[in-house]
Amino acid sequence: MYYAKITGWGKCLPPAVLSNADLSTFMDTSDEWITSRTGIRERRICHCNFSDMAIVAARRALAAANVAPEELDLILLGSLTMDSLCPNTASLVQNAIGARNAASIDINSACTGFLYGLHIGTNLIKTGAHRKVLVIGGEFISHYMNWARRDVAVLFGDACGAVVLEASTERTGLLAARIGCDMDTSSAIQITNFGSAYSRLSDDFLYLGWNFEGQEVFKRAIKGMAFACEDVLMQTGLRMDDIHIMVPHQANRRILDALAKRLDIPEEKIMVNVHKYGNTSAGTIPVALTEALEENRIRPGDYVLMASFGAGLTWGAGLVQWGDRTVALQVSDADLPPCQQSALEILAPHIQRYKAHAL
Ligand SMILES: CC(C)(COP(=O)(O)OP(=O)(O)OC[C@H]1O[C@@H](n2cnc3c(N)ncnc32)[C@H](O)[C@@H]1OP(=O)(O)O)[C@@H](O)C(=O)NCCC(=O)NCCS
Repeated sequence: MYYAKITGWGKCLPPAVLSNADLSTFMDTSDEWITSRTGIRERRICHCNFSDMAIVAARRALAAANVAPEELDLILLGSLTMDSLCPNTASLVQNAIGARNAASIDINSACTGFLYGLHIGTNLIKTGAHRKVLVIGGEFISHYMNWARRDVAVLFGDACGAVVLEASTERTGLLAARIGCDMDTSSAIQITNFGSAYSRLSDDFLYLGWNFEGQEVFKRAIKGMAFACEDVLMQTGLRMDDIHIMVPHQANRRILDALAKRLDIPEEKIMVNVHKYGNTSAGTIPVALTEALEENRIRPGDYVLMASFGAGLTWGAGLVQWGDRTVALQVSDADLPPCQQSALEILAPHIQRYKAHAL
């Protein structure tokens, strides 16, 4: 019986920062509204492709693990904002990093994509089917955003993170997971006007709509994550007091506070970076995990609780026992191409298109 040890971790944040003040230059919103309702102060906007962020995060995670790309036998990539419909983005990452011995799979479970990937990758290692798996989670959500929708556009940002899993006989890695999906709320977060469910002959084909029931998602998120967390504690025989740090999906500071209250976990045990990056969907957990390690908030042997929710409505939790190493073995110099534009300049064509459509 193998465990899937997390041996490498990495993140990629695009450099262009979009502040709440920037948003209020082109939509009817304010720093006060966004900060008080969500805790978000700024987010990042990607100036290249999603796969570019995924490649940088992947290279950084591989360096931290000191694993060569050829050693990987599987790449799982959680995202809903692919570079193109075909080929899948995991295969673009595979090609760029030279992981010639890997299979490559995209997982579209929205914000829960990374956690789903960690669960699948871990269990494929446990069965002996795979030995070294790269799990990536991230999003280029600004590209798919409807910039005329102030209730949605202020919430999200772009980022990517990755971890390396390696077969190990030590009791470490993801010890238990509970994942699920509330099938009756599939329309609570929905990107419309893209895909075969919508008219392929419409002139508005590239005008993406968003169905977004914020309050319904808010309630379901807390309920789903709390249920999943209690389930993984039960599976492992641990109590909330045994958890050293919680690394939850970062969608809204108020959701994190309500979750902490419901689970009776002290605020200082919760990793929070939503104020810096907003909701980066499948990117939130691997980015927050990497930052928790960089800030020395995880020690060898610690119990790390993860929880997530997203469109579907998908939800889940995972309980990880950290291994014996919290320091990267190597540091990669991989980086994104230089960015010459401000976030507002990058977004200008998108904003114009959605403004023109609204007229
Ligand atoms: C979206 C969310 C922040 C909204 O907060 P809320 O307290 O529920 O706010 P409401 O939806 O009740 O909106 C209150 C008012 O603010 C307005 N408003 C919405 N977005 C606004 C913005 N960006 N700036 C200013 N006002 C805004 C609304 O129009 C509404 O005005 P009205 O009362 O005149 O109709 C909150 O519901 C939430 O975070 N939900 C979870 C969503 C989420 O995380 N989704 C991603 C899942 S992975």
